[in-house]
Amino acid sequence: MNQVSRAPDILDNISRLSSATWAYAGLSACFELGIVDELGTPVTAGELAERLDLERGLVEDLIGVLVALGAVSEEAGAFVATPEFETFRSGSVARVTQAGIRSDHLQTAEALRRARAGALAPGWDHLDPDVLVAQGETAGLFRLSAEHVLPSLDGLRDALERPGATFLDVGAGVGVISSELCMVYPELAADCLEPNPAARRLGRERVRAAGLAERISFLPQTVEELDAVHGYDLAVVPQPFLSPDAFGAGIPRVRRSLRAGGWLLVLALDVPESDPVSAASSRIRARLWGGGAVTARELLGQLSGCGFEEAHAHHPVGGYRMFAARAPAGVEAAPADRIRFTARA
Ligand SMILES: C[S@@+](CC[C@H](N)C(=O)[O-])C[C@H]1O[C@@H](n2cnc3c(N)ncnc32)[C@H](O)[C@@H]1O
Repeated sequence: MNQVSRAPDILDNISRLSSATWAYAGLSACFELGIVDELGTPVTAGELAERLDLERGLVEDLIGVLVALGAVSEEAGAFVATPEFETFRSGSVARVTQAGIRSDHLQTAEALRRARAGALAPGWDHLDPDVLVAQGETAGLFRLSAEHVLPSLDGLRDALERPGATFLDVGAGVGVISSELCMVYPELAADCLEPNPAARRLGRERVRAAGLAERISFLPQTVEELDAVHGYDLAVVPQPFLSPDAFGAGIPRVRRSLRAGGWLLVLALDVPESDPVSAASSRIRARLWGGGAVTARELLGQLSGCGFEEAHAHHPVGGYRMFAARAPAGVEAAPADRIRFTARA
């Protein structure tokens, strides 16, 4: 059987990536310069240029990117956000969107810098506060996904609403997931495991500013050092940021730290195999973050192999995928006031 296979057009592929990169730079500039903020009501490019003290031709071309993306429409020379873009333009979703775009730019620029210095290696070891906060704020998406996922997990909502409810935030970064959950559940207290001192310092400042310092603690530990039963109602583990060894050693410890019937959520990057470039992009991102990409089958197998029950995957949202699993009901953890950790070398 004769199969006609077309040679890949490398130049065409590269030039599409190049165009997307410049369009993405334009989109990020529209957020950073405040252009996006101004597009809630119709405005001309000239008015925008004057309000924001920018060169008019630059404003026209930046808005051109938004028009090409379907985010802005034009009528009689005035531009306004389309209804589809409105959700991403204002409020909490806009903050998450802007953080994600900023984070992509900062991290890809840093990857280039490290590659040019011959120093690119897997592992999340950033110290730049802009990178830590931007990546952290993308976790605001967690609230959106959690609104769907958490209520679907048997008994979890009631548990999080009870006085004394506790949450384990593994690889907590600057503590966005803990803050979001503590704002939704007023009885909840969180322990944040975070080995990166720069992230812990920023996290402590942020929870203090949010009035949550009494309820959210940052602990200078890795998940492999988690060494006690605690009776947490919920734990969240961001798989792509943990090395495979840390994830493998940490998951059984997380299970022991949960109360019987407590829930674990694992956040992973989705790898859309039907779209090779997106899949490759997810894989390189997960590799640089330290954990590498894992398939749903591998992850679910690992959770079940560690004694978790009811392991299942949720639908991907915004490039991420959540996996949930439950600590067995029969094995009750001994109560402990605080977590104990193995000594750190
Ligand atoms: C970038 S954060 C994820 C964003 C975070 N949700 C926020 O609100 O900022 C992931 C964190 O995992 C931490 N990490 C890496 N290896 C770890 C390990 N073995 N145990 C615990 N945390 C780890 C990294 O230091 C990193 O800060």
